[in-house]
Amino acid sequence: MTAPVRLVGLSGSLRSGSYNSALLRAAQTLVPAGVELIAGTIRDIPLYNGDVERDAGLPAAVSELKALIAAADGLMLFTPEYNNGIPGVFKNAIDWLSRPASDIALVFGGRPVAVLGASPGGFGTILSQAAWLPVLRTLGADHWAGERLMVARTGAVFDDDGELVDDAIRRRLETFTAGFADHCRVARAHTKPVS
Ligand code: FNR
Repeated sequence: MTAPVRLVGLSGSLRSGSYNSALLRAAQTLVPAGVELIAGTIRDIPLYNGDVERDAGLPAAVSELKALIAAADGLMLFTPEYNNGIPGVFKNAIDWLSRPASDIALVFGGRPVAVLGASPGGFGTILSQAAWLPVLRTLGADHWAGERLMVARTGAVFDDDGELVDDAIRRRLETFTAGFADHCRVARAHTKPVS
């Protein structure tokens, strides 16, 4: 039997009412059979400090998340947008995950990564999604460009409890997640020996 496609999703927001975390939760309910979407967290990752890394090594939250991603078939970044770019807390987490540099290939190298996001504005994180591209290229990740999903005007897409209430967005999220999972399944078949 084929092992399930294992995806890890990260929300780039620490807010309890985060739209991006809500989008990740919605995606978890929509994955097709044979696909798992595990929510990782950046919550306990401190600000990057090279002195801390030198003296104490990686924080446990970083090591644990690195291992989770390294064991996954694909990574989904649910990115907010701040000032037309990547929010600092999210970039900071990825920066920690890229340490030490000798582990970059293990964590990110060739790993399929999908970027999607949600914002109350009219452009739905288009600029922060674009800002991820050079970062992912630098890390040697396989950015999936099969679909785009920029969830705009989130006030009408989620209810006050963070439930996705827009049927068109739900269908697009389902298509996005299934398409990415298919890509990850094919990528896995090309990189891992069949046991
Ligand atoms: C924002 N927001 C925002 N939205 C956007 O679409 N483009 C932007 O450039 C910005 N800039 C920005 C800067 C700062 C400092 C904050 C705090 C917010 C609004 C942002 O999309 C909104 O707060 C979202 O709700 C953040 O995502 P989460 O926390 O809901 O996932």
